[in-house]
Amino acid sequence: MNPDSLQRDLDLATQLLRTARKVAVLTGAGISAESGLATFRGAGGLWEGQRVEDVATPRAFARDPSLVWRFYNLRRANLATVKPNPGHYALVQIEDRLGDGFTLITQNVDGLHRSAGSRNVLEIHGSLRRVRCVGCGVVSDRGVESLPDLPHCVACGKMLRPDVVWFEEDLPDLVWHRACKAAGECDCFLVIGTSAVDYPAAGLIDLARMQTADVIEINIQPSAASSHATITLLGPSGTILPELIKRL
Ligand code: OAD
Repeated sequence: MNPDSLQRDLDLATQLLRTARKVAVLTGAGISAESGLATFRGAGGLWEGQRVEDVATPRAFARDPSLVWRFYNLRRANLATVKPNPGHYALVQIEDRLGDGFTLITQNVDGLHRSAGSRNVLEIHGSLRRVRCVGCGVVSDRGVESLPDLPHCVACGKMLRPDVVWFEEDLPDLVWHRACKAAGECDCFLVIGTSAVDYPAAGLIDLARMQTADVIEINIQPSAASSHATITLLGPSGTILPELIKRL
């Protein structure tokens, strides 16, 4: 993108954000890339060296829970070494301006939005920091502490699983309902660092568009969301988002 057209698009995006009363945001793995976490697709992505069916489905867990836990424990260990980046912090500033009119919907399970200080966060794919008992269903926040290869519930003794959404599973009802409401009611929908190919999450973009929200996309390259976007700002979110904040 030539620098002049980026400046023009930044100005237009600023205007849309300034006049919006309700803003919803959908983030994906790209926003955490500059914190040092791998995205899912593409070279070096988490799904490149790993078959989804081996580690991220209920069947995989039933077949080989230790293998699944090794994959998630490695990802949990990575969390202990990373911090939010300027993109995460910029979203906190947008929330500070809008208060209740701001909803942050994330597909990320890394918890970095909350670490940065975002408050109204909907983690539609769950969180690596939480575990859930397959027996009694109790959910507990274990942060980034290291867990055994096969952790068990202290209350009932059954196995624990990561409290994340696997393929072939439904999204958590209440959180998903709130995400749809926010996407359906906003004037401006930001889509940041996602390939927008994973449904139902990507359907939130169509939902926002159908309700006539302006869609502002931020990504280092065009994605499946680009054809729905009013504006696509091409560049790293850790740079583009702070630029937007400066202009607001
Ligand atoms: P993907 O790996 O599919 O896409 C990451 C996106 O981030 C790509 O479009 C990149 O171009 C973009 N990107 C990379 N670095 C960036 C940067 N610095 N700034 C802005 N954009 C950048 O990850 P997701 O779209 O998050 O689901 O994947 C969605 C879901 O699919 C995940 O939540 C996961 C996965 O399977 C489950 O595990 C249920």
